[in-house]
This record gives sequence, structure tokens and C-alpha cells, in this order.
Amino acid sequence: MNAPVDVTNVQLETPRLLLRSFRESDVEDLYAYASVDGVGQMAGWKPHASIEESRNILNMFLREKKTLALVWKETGSVIGSLGLEPIEEPLPLPESLQGREIGFVLSKDYWGRGLMPETVKAVIDFCFQTWQFDYLVCSHFIRNHQSRRVVEKCGFSYLKDCTLRTDFGTEEPSRFYVLFNPNKVR
Ligand SMILES: CC(C)(COP(=O)(O)OP(=O)(O)OC[C@H]1O[C@@H](n2cnc3c(N)ncnc32)[C@H](O)[C@@H]1OP(=O)(O)O)[C@@H](O)C(=O)NCCC(=O)NCCS
Repeated sequence: MNAPVDVTNVQLETPRLLLRSFRESDVEDLYAYASVDGVGQMAGWKPHASIEESRNILNMFLREKKTLALVWKETGSVIGSLGLEPIEEPLPLPESLQGREIGFVLSKDYWGRGLMPETVKAVIDFCFQTWQFDYLVCSHFIRNHQSRRVVEKCGFSYLKDCTLRTDFGTEEPSRFYVLFNPNKVR
């Protein structure tokens, strides 16, 4: 079952990043990383073709209240996002438990510095300790080695393989993982 989520007033801090809800003024930063070839495709969406497209996506973030902006402390720029998505794939998890699927993307300029594992770990702690989720789920296309490494570094366990459809109409063999809240008795 999907846990209720509203990130409007969430503010988290990691050693190098601030995590907060998106603001309308983030549109240029969003466009700067989401328009780069080879970023969104790994998560199933096409690079943004215009600032208007980024504005539409940003408006969706503001409406749906489930996506956090990753702010690089040194400059104050938004360099990525993390969403607490509703789980659409049927998964072998008890209906009585509540969780969400984590989805993430980072500006290509910042890849390979351990920033997404740092982010995901902070969000795991928040979702388990403050929001008392029962579990979090993560998935990646099988060919997405980078995302698999983040999932592994954050301690998720294998759940199942399946095929996912991308926004651009292709089918991708994919893998799902789960992490249960260690503070809750199952
Ligand atoms: C997946 C992603 C968020 C990883 O973030 P990150 O902060 O770079 O993660 P890490 O620094 O832990 O690096 C993860 C792996 O990426 C690989 N990697 C590092 N730098 C890289 C680069 N410049 N180019 C390609 N791969 C790189 C390495 O294999 C690394 O694993 P290692 O630490 O064992 O060597 C980032 O690559 C990204 O935004 N990718 C595009 C969107 C995406 O795939 N989203 C997830 C959808 S499921």
C-alpha cells in the first residue's frame, strides 16, 4: 500500500546537500540538468527539450508534493531530485504494510562522488524514523549499472525482475528491491 506523502515542509541536510521541496525559481537549474542527453533516459524519460517543458514538470512537482530538490550547498543550485513515488508494479509485499518507491536523478556534472547514496540514506532515515514507513522500494533498468550501485550501497534487497515501459515507448528489463524499516516489527 502506498504511504501518504507531503514533502512541502520537509528539510533534510547531508554533509554536502540540502534536501527541500521544489520552488518555482528552480526552473533554470532543473532545465540545466534535465536537458542533458543520457540522464533522463536512464530513468525512463526523454531529456527536456525546452524550459517550458521543465516548467511543466516543476509545476507537477509542486502539485504532487512528493519530489525533493537536491541543493548543492556550495552554490545553492539544484543539481538533482528524489521522488517518493506511488508503487505501480505489483510486488510481493504484504498489503497491510505502507511504503513508497524512491526514484532519483542527478546532474551529470556531479556523478561519481557518492552524492546519491548520501541523499538516499538521509531520505531512508527520515522515512523510517519520522514518517514511520514500513518499507521503501527502489528499481532500475537492468542495464543501469550506476543506479544498481546506489541501490546496493544503500542496503536494499532483491525483490523481483520485470519489464517496465519508458515514457518514450520502449520496454526495459528491470529489477525491484526493498528495504524494510528495522524499527518496526513485522
Ligand atoms: C544513478 C545516479 C543517480 C548515481 O548517482 P551518483 O551520485 O553518481 O552515485 P555514485 O557516486 O554512488 O556512483 C554510482 C556508480 O556510477 C558509476 N559512475 C561514477 N561516475 C560515473 C560517470 N561519470 N559516468 C558513468 N558512470 C559513473 C560508478 O560505477 C559508480 O559506482 P562505484 O562507486 O561502485 O564506482 C546518477 O548516475 C544518475 O543520475 N543517473 C541518471 C539517472 C538515473 O539513472 N536515475 C536512476 C533511475 S533508476
